[in-house]
Amino acid sequence: MRVHSAPWRAATVLASVLLVGSMAACGNSDTGGGGTKDDGKITMGFSQVGAESGWRTANTVSIKEAATAAGIELKFDDAQQKQENQIKAIRNYIQQKVDVIAFSPVVESGWDTVLKEAKDAKIPVILTDRSVDSADKSLYKTFLGSDFVKEGRLAGEWLVEQKKTASGPVNIVELQGSTGAAPANDRKKGFGEAIAANPNLKVIASQSGDFTRAGGKQVMEQFLKANKQIDVLFAHNDDMGLGALEAITAAGKVPGKDITIITVDAVKDGMQALADGKFNFIAECSPLLGPQLMDLAKKVKAGEEVPARIETEETTFTQAQAKEALPNRKY
Ligand code: AHR
Repeated sequence: MRVHSAPWRAATVLASVLLVGSMAACGNSDTGGGGTKDDGKITMGFSQVGAESGWRTANTVSIKEAATAAGIELKFDDAQQKQENQIKAIRNYIQQKVDVIAFSPVVESGWDTVLKEAKDAKIPVILTDRSVDSADKSLYKTFLGSDFVKEGRLAGEWLVEQKKTASGPVNIVELQGSTGAAPANDRKKGFGEAIAANPNLKVIASQSGDFTRAGGKQVMEQFLKANKQIDVLFAHNDDMGLGALEAITAAGKVPGKDITIITVDAVKDGMQALADGKFNFIAECSPLLGPQLMDLAKKVKAGEEVPARIETEETTFTQAQAKEALPNRKY
């Protein structure tokens, strides 16, 4: 996480003293959540995307463990990758008058109405992992998560460097994440911008594998049938890359050698494939957002100002770096 500067901290402390003071005086808060109970205990309603990937599982564990550690009561809902389920869960949390609502939006668009309902009910909303495309930024307090464009760009820049001596076309296939999801849109954008540096690098096919292993395998099978020469696979997450490995091996090709494989996430299974030489490069996306999320929930409940955007710190891994990092990998 980006560390806040000293003046920011001082301003925050001052703002919170003033705000807490005025809350005590008025006996009510504009952002304090629900506006009904003030027992000092925080209840958070969290709507998770689903359980589509190893990343998501690690993210759910991080949020549940962090809530327990922070003494925050967590109401958790798994939306099974459906926006309508997330909207329903958020409306339930509003009815239950939770103190804070947090969610990872399955897609970027279509949230204004429900976010406005939360705002009208004076329940602060924290976006975690993925953002929304609402023009009205006052509909949520902050967005905690990765820079997905950067992840795509890092993946593309690595490829540009690897193929700098290529004299002919380099055929790339792309497994996109779930249609309409921020990481799918942004990773595609970042990767596309980076590989534009070398006109030999061409995306010859690009399709969604829905961030799942099954989706990655199925779409890669189609890619292999439809395209004689595939040199590179860029998968928007490890799980789709792992599914694609099965399709590539079944087609009699050697993953990591005949086809260069680049993914995003760096979960354990992905890192193992990288260390084993089956993947070639991973741009990390950290799922360990729980502790920062709980910290933010406490701050917004206390009426403190929080930064509008908190970016997760991430790195990249080559095969040698994966071998080194694997023994200590937490997820
Ligand atoms: O939003 C983060 C993405 O969602 C992860 O990269 C992917 O694995 C997950 O399903």
